[in-house]
Amino acid sequence: MDPVQAQDAHHGWVNMALDTIPRMRRSHEAPSRTPDDDLPREEAQRTLRARLASDVAEGHIEPPLLPSVALELMRLTSTGAADPRDLAALIERDQMIAAKLLRAANSAMFAASREITSLGGAVNRLGVLGVRDVVLAIALKGIVVRDEPYHRIMVRLWEHALACAAISKLVAGLARVPTEEAFLAGLLHDIGKPTLLISLMTMNQETGGDLRDVGRAMFRIEALIDEFHTAAGTLVAERWLLPTQCRLAIAHHHAPNASRIVRVVHVADETSRALTAEREEGAWPAMTEDRIRAALEHACLALSQREFETLLIRADKAREDAVQAFA
Ligand SMILES: [Fe+2]
Ligand SMILES: [Fe+2]
Repeated sequence: MDPVQAQDAHHGWVNMALDTIPRMRRSHEAPSRTPDDDLPREEAQRTLRARLASDVAEGHIEPPLLPSVALELMRLTSTGAADPRDLAALIERDQMIAAKLLRAANSAMFAASREITSLGGAVNRLGVLGVRDVVLAIALKGIVVRDEPYHRIMVRLWEHALACAAISKLVAGLARVPTEEAFLAGLLHDIGKPTLLISLMTMNQETGGDLRDVGRAMFRIEALIDEFHTAAGTLVAERWLLPTQCRLAIAHHHAPNASRIVRVVHVADETSRALTAEREEGAWPAMTEDRIRAALEHACLALSQREFETLLIRADKAREDAVQAFA
């Protein structure tokens, strides 16, 4: 599917979904003032969409809660002069994160040949920014919701974020884009989605569980978070003080511009989605190839035939290694 078709399909999907959006109300409104049941269905749909849009436009979006160690690590590494010993001391405060960091540092993702058992060793192997990336991935995986269908959607969002992170790093290497932010930018490119998912879940719990009870709820929720996720993600990027390259990737990954990191993440995003379609929906390998070629063209990112084949061969392995590292 070329980018224009993809865009049309996306809008068609959103419009179709909006036809079936349930009636909801914001939490701060008194339930007795305007009973939702009295509103015509289309008006209720438009109202919900408008309210989500206005929440995003006015910045009434709460980023997901992250462990304090992860937030502190972002602050420490944002200056570019973090001392590895400070990093190790910080991570030691959270034994769960420390254990998961060691596990990741010993995984195939970091081509580990010799086992390391200390945090200092992990920091040496991964480097300051590598530690930041891994701790952020651990923190993101830790954003868990229990109720369905939100739980299932959150798991899929995590799987996609991780795949996109690993493939962004691969694409950056193949396209010779000198960046240390490819993994993080890929990991966080859709951060607006879990953010909105949690908002919708809260809204829905306060308004009677309509989204959860209707059969096509997953479909509708995904359409809604799809529509607003880049704007919501931009708000999260500001609150978390993310590096500029990550902010650009979050804001523009569906419409690549001159920024090379945005182009890289666009290609990684499409590659990751094409591989998921091949793995889970039985899409043909030729379709994966076409989709990745279209993404490269859309992003104006040139790969030689050999580099393209390397991407095809290594992308799924990069994803699998990342899954193992954070299992
Ligand atoms: Fe996206
Ligand atoms: Fe994505």
